[in-house]
Amino acid sequence: MAAELDLALVRPRLEGRRIEWHTVTDSTMLRAAELVREGCPNGTAVGADAQTAGMGRHGRQWISEAGSGLYVSIVLRTGMPADRLPLVMLALGLAAQEAIERTAGLRGDLRWPNDILINGRKCAGILAQLEGDAVIAGIGINVNQSAFPEGLDTPATSLRLSGAVVAREDLLVALLSAVDHWMNQPADSISDAFLKRSSYARGRRVRAERDHRIVEGTTVGLDPSGFLIIREDNGIETTILAGGVRPA
Ligand code: BTN
Repeated sequence: MAAELDLALVRPRLEGRRIEWHTVTDSTMLRAAELVREGCPNGTAVGADAQTAGMGRHGRQWISEAGSGLYVSIVLRTGMPADRLPLVMLALGLAAQEAIERTAGLRGDLRWPNDILINGRKCAGILAQLEGDAVIAGIGINVNQSAFPEGLDTPATSLRLSGAVVAREDLLVALLSAVDHWMNQPADSISDAFLKRSSYARGRRVRAERDHRIVEGTTVGLDPSGFLIIREDNGIETTILAGGVRPA
């Protein structure tokens, strides 16, 4: 499997899209932020074959060895109000899940807000950062890895370890197209799709954090903004605003 993505296989399938590709960069999030400040258009994508300082959520590192994953940041200039941000996170998860299904034939699970799990192991993660009036969506999909370090917060897998051989060029085309699609859906379509496609959204025993307190209970759906609601054993419903959930 080539370590370098062949952009010539991608461009004709995404006409008019600004795509910048690096053999190696520190983080595509940093380069995308520079492009936002330079005024790049909505949908601009920055990718890299390898990142030396790949960023995960909550200050974690995203291991980004050459050619093993798809590492891409997408500039979203949708002018959406800040209270739509949680729905954007869900929409990005739906897009990544759909791109994986289309190219690999694998239906990943969505763990709120937008981790993609295959058989309980994480195969894709998404980060969203505000830069001026734009949102930068950073998406990392494990494609070709044959092993992962021990002791990760969530055990990891790749598409290859899950039995699928996928060209990163095809995955990139599918991902950018799916992001375009889901970013243009109304809030209720995004919520409905998430409820259908995530085993975590309803009826799942989970643990999460709210106001420095561990909340444990059963998920009962999403609020209108896309936040996850957990019913604790005392019957109280608590809305989870940030962080992630884990099976309890
Ligand atoms: C997570 O922790 O689940 C989010 C991981 C996001 C990783 C991607 S890879 C492309 C982009 N560049 C980065 O430095 N991080 C995101």
